[in-house]
Amino acid sequence: MADLVGALDHGTTSTRFMVFDATGTEVARHQLEHAQILPRPGWVEHDPEEIADRAASVVSIALRQARLEARDLAAVGIANQRETTVVWNRRTGRPYTNAIVWQDTRTDTIAAALEADGRGSVIRERAGLPPATYFSGAKLQWVLDNVEGVRADAERGDALFGTTDSWLLWSLTGGPAGGVHVTDVTNASRTMLMSLETLDWDEELLSFFDVPRRMLPEIRPSSDARGYGEAVGPLHGVPLTAALGDQQAATLGQGCFTPGTAKNTYGTGNFLLLNTGGELVRSANGLLTTPAWQLGDGAPAYALEGSIAVTGSAIQWLRDQLGILTGAAQSEALAAQVEDNGGVYFVPAFSGLFAPYWRSDARGAIVGLSRFNTNAHLVRATLESICFQSRDVIEAAKQDSGIDLDVLRVDGGVTANSLCMQIQADVLGVPVSRPAVTETTALGAAYAAGLAAGVWSSTDELIGNWREDRRWEPHWSADRRESEYAGWKRAVERSLGWVEV
Ligand code: G3P
Repeated sequence: MADLVGALDHGTTSTRFMVFDATGTEVARHQLEHAQILPRPGWVEHDPEEIADRAASVVSIALRQARLEARDLAAVGIANQRETTVVWNRRTGRPYTNAIVWQDTRTDTIAAALEADGRGSVIRERAGLPPATYFSGAKLQWVLDNVEGVRADAERGDALFGTTDSWLLWSLTGGPAGGVHVTDVTNASRTMLMSLETLDWDEELLSFFDVPRRMLPEIRPSSDARGYGEAVGPLHGVPLTAALGDQQAATLGQGCFTPGTAKNTYGTGNFLLLNTGGELVRSANGLLTTPAWQLGDGAPAYALEGSIAVTGSAIQWLRDQLGILTGAAQSEALAAQVEDNGGVYFVPAFSGLFAPYWRSDARGAIVGLSRFNTNAHLVRATLESICFQSRDVIEAAKQDSGIDLDVLRVDGGVTANSLCMQIQADVLGVPVSRPAVTETTALGAAYAAGLAAGVWSSTDELIGNWREDRRWEPHWSADRRESEYAGWKRAVERSLGWVEV
């Protein structure tokens, strides 16, 4: 049997297909970006048809470049940006409207109403989530209420909802000509519609958003030897045996299999996941409770998650909107021109603030400016904002779980910025460790798929694949660490309550 496993990693800004061998070594890769559609302040959309096209293209191109055939793959797994909401017609296969992306804040009044009338505490208890614009339920309600014809079609069973895993599985298995309508527990858990206890859609939660149950996909394990359906197109004949949220996949790819291990992914946003094993830990400090994965029909592993909306995308903002960087890589060189932030703090609350604050009324703030400051200070403050936000969620995880991390495993694009990783170690006072394979999301999707297909027999076999590439040790004194963090907390205060919701 082939021991190569494919992974389709569909993220917020791009989609890549990778192939790994049984040692977790990369043997093929291709990646394509998709458009970020920003029609109004706070709105962020993607074109679902473009996403499906890109997915098919990256598979074909990666296989062709590596001189592989689909039949060389034992299985394929999907990892996807979570929460992003697609609604399409079962008969035509056409989306009714653009996908509403997880960063989109158009549902702030829906989320605020949930908090105001007590439904929020039911959602917290049952779904493990604070009511927020981030999650799919309110986005789906918005589509049902605002896009003509969708509610009637949904009641008739013709309009289907899915996060992008569902949409990709539907497309990869033939769309209207035979597509499956499924999702996995990790993705379903990000909708505010699934009970963490039953791992099924919850009637009361559905009623909060007025969502007809028949438009929802079947919830399946994240890794399933039965497969999710017959692939057509470039993956024809390959078993599709895993689908899970990209951050959960990265947790697998980082080898965080045992309770108490954690990873932090630095992408457009940052996502820290702490494995809590079979235990459903409820957060009292602004974190999410989420399934880490469900491998086969067994009990799921759970995690506490700190989701931060804007980290790497703040660097992109410096480049694209302010034009003070020519490329993301230049951020390191510019920030290195100064010893410290020169008193400047930047709170990039473009989508409000997510964990641990959950304040949709926050907006971006740059504070502490004096005439002395330069672009270099602003760039350094941007890198620091990534690290301070990560400290916020790590402090919350410590309070919720009692676990004090002795090392932080990191991955994602921003980890190529060595200065940022040094600042992270300094801000936390713990070492930061980056693995040799930084494509942990794709690797985790491949692991989930290969476990189901028998390429690997258990997660124990995968632990040996993880190797450290680089480690940053903390250098700041305790005094500096605490006074810089206190400055950050004051800056966060300034960003709160800026808009009314
Ligand atoms: O919850 C959103 C997250 O899944 C997005 O991840 O890597 O696409 O920024 P990424």
